[in-house]
Amino acid sequence: MSLRTLSLTDELHAYLVAHGSTPDPLTADLMAETLSALPKAAGMQVAPEQAAFLTFITRLLNVRNAVEVGTFTGLSSLSIARGLAPGGKLVCFDISDEYTSLARRYWERAGVADRIELRIGPAAQTLAGLPEEPYLDLAFIDADKESYATYWSLLVPRMRSGGLIAVDNVLWHGRVLTPAADDLATQAIIAFNEMVLTDDRVEAVMLPLADGVTLARVR
Ligand SMILES: C[S@@+](CC[C@H](N)C(=O)[O-])C[C@H]1O[C@@H](n2cnc3c(N)ncnc32)[C@H](O)[C@@H]1O
Repeated sequence: MSLRTLSLTDELHAYLVAHGSTPDPLTADLMAETLSALPKAAGMQVAPEQAAFLTFITRLLNVRNAVEVGTFTGLSSLSIARGLAPGGKLVCFDISDEYTSLARRYWERAGVADRIELRIGPAAQTLAGLPEEPYLDLAFIDADKESYATYWSLLVPRMRSGGLIAVDNVLWHGRVLTPAADDLATQAIIAFNEMVLTDDRVEAVMLPLADGVTLARVR
C-alpha cells in the first residue's frame, strides 16, 4: 500500500489517458495542429487528462459563468466550454492574437464559439473590466506565472460563494523545490502557493495532476 501519489511512467500515463481522457477527433486535431504550427510553445497546452478534468468539473458544478486567464490555442477553453450549463458563458483572457486565432477556429469547429468571448490584452488590466460582483462559478488561471497573485486578487472577490478557482502549474516541473535566484517565474509560483495557503477566503487543495493544479473553493 502506498501513502503517496504514484509516479507515472509513459506507459502508465498512456493507460490513464486511454481510460477516460482520450482526445476526441477534434481535440486530437487541435493538439496536432498546435504541435506542428507552434512546436516550441506546444508544451504550454494542458494535458489530455487535465482537459477531461476541466470538462468534468465544469459540468459537475453546473457552471454558468466562467473565466479563463491564459488561452493559448484553446484546449482548456474548449474543454470548459463543452461542460458549461445551457446558456453558460466563458470569458477568455490572453495577450496573443496569434495563439488565439487558432483557438477561435477550433471553437467554431466544435460549435462552442457562441459561448466564448475572448478579450485580448494584458490580463492584469483586462480582468479589471469584469463586473465587480461575486458572480463567477469557475476561474482557470494558466497565464504568465509572475502575475498569478495579481490574477488571484482580481478574481477571488468576483467568485460566488462555493465557486471554484483552478490554477495550473503550481509544481512548475518540480522547480518549486530548487528555485534559482534569477528564476522569477519559479519564485512567483512559490510565493503564490504560500499566499493561497494563508488565504482564509478559500479552502484549497493541491493536486498532482499534470504539472500540479490547485483547486480553491471560495467560502
Ligand atoms: C500556458 S499558456 C495557456 C495554455 C492554455 N490554457 C491551453 O490549454 O492551451 C499561457 C498563455 O498565457 C498568455 N499570456 C502570457 N502573458 C499574458 C498576460 N500578461 N496576459 C494575458 N495572457 C498572457 C500567453 O499568450 C499564452 O497563450
